Amino acid sequence: MSRQSNLARTTTSAPNDLEAFWMPFTPNRAFKKRPRLIVRAKDMHYYTPEGRAILDATAGMWCTNAGHNRDPIVAAIKEQAEELDYAPPFQFAHPKSFHLASRIAELAPGDLDHVFFTNSGSEAVDTALKMALAYWNVSGQGSRTRLIGRERGYHGVGFGGISVGGMVGNRKMFGTMLAGVDHLPATYNREQQAFTRGEPEWGAHLADELERIVALHDASTIAAVIVEPMAGSTGVLPPPKGYLKRLRAICDKHGILLIFDEVITGFGRLGTAFAAERYGVVPDMITFAKGVTSGTVPMGGVITRKHIHDAFMKGPEHVVEFAHGYTYSAHPLAVAAGIATLDVYREESLFERAKKLEPVWADAIHGLKGEPNVLDIRTLGLVAAVDLASRPDAVGKRAYEAMENGFHEHDITLRITGETIALTPPLTISEAQIGEVADKLRAVIRAVA
Ligand SMILES: Cc1ncc(COP(=O)(O)O)c(C=O)c1O
Repeated sequence: MSRQSNLARTTTSAPNDLEAFWMPFTPNRAFKKRPRLIVRAKDMHYYTPEGRAILDATAGMWCTNAGHNRDPIVAAIKEQAEELDYAPPFQFAHPKSFHLASRIAELAPGDLDHVFFTNSGSEAVDTALKMALAYWNVSGQGSRTRLIGRERGYHGVGFGGISVGGMVGNRKMFGTMLAGVDHLPATYNREQQAFTRGEPEWGAHLADELERIVALHDASTIAAVIVEPMAGSTGVLPPPKGYLKRLRAICDKHGILLIFDEVITGFGRLGTAFAAERYGVVPDMITFAKGVTSGTVPMGGVITRKHIHDAFMKGPEHVVEFAHGYTYSAHPLAVAAGIATLDVYREESLFERAKKLEPVWADAIHGLKGEPNVLDIRTLGLVAAVDLASRPDAVGKRAYEAMENGFHEHDITLRITGETIALTPPLTISEAQIGEVADKLRAVIRAVA
């Protein structure tokens, strides 16, 4: 079939030729044999080319916290496209960028009050890591270059992000990674934590591993520690009670910067604007993306504490203080979408809503305990993970089948990582729809038994 035939058809019909698009993080051959196509969305649902409504139990990819195609957000994007398509963010700016930065800073705890815009979570992470290194440079401690991540961490796909990240599959194919990186141990232990609601009791002591790394390298060589407050993409690993506070205390003791990667926990996912608030911990930087525009237009960024920003603000005033940025940093469409999205979150109290729904959600998903092959269930905020037993000699296959079955047979989107099914619905989900998610997932789990 010629490539031309794709172009001739409308965007809402199924394409004839699936070859040219090399799909990201997708087993291309399996997908193209039985595609899962989405052409439209509204509120809690996606729609297939045939018009089937699919319940979105994953907010796209942890993005659409306000639900899909919300009228005020769509209108803001349309208006912005008509008024100003693009403005250079280097040396020039459009006013709404400042407005959005202030709105985001207002949501962040403590003196996290400056915002640097990127276009994705991966760029946000690499920006934060560069900012940490540069901060020590401009502060006269240029020997602080070592970065500490965590096993089973996910920080996007830039070279910085995969270096501090702890997912073998994302690292092993790419020989060149940052030197001078260490990893804390992952905080998940099924024997100690299985079927926990919220934060597990066991595991705070694992933060002390940072002391061991400091003892090995000396604090004077360590720039920053980066962790997800709740590891998401490696299977939803809630932080043990007290773990993040302990990590903050050890960082403070040794003058090490603490970065929270809140690309998925930001904007209400755990019932507060940022997870930092839920845990009563003020990191030195927060990375964000996804929920900032409810997934509508790509945007990410880094929120920094005042002293980090201020350390750069010296030298001749005509000289760039931080040699970093992207052509599309604070793109007008993303900024307009961001402001409208934050308005929706505020007007509909969606973060509080997530908090209120947390026990309802936990009850519903933990009700799946005892279903075939279910080894563990974890819930936190409006997030859940269900671990399935692997089929013999085919790790990840049962979960893959579950995702396929969910989409084709039970009209629900599921995210999978390894043998874990992750659920992260829009914060607009109703109690009835929470029940629907649990019922559909039960049927799916039985179907792949
Ligand atoms: C914690 C975390 N950091 C970074 C990223 C990368 O974001 P993006 O895919 O927008 O580059 C993700 C994506 O899921 C993430 O979960």
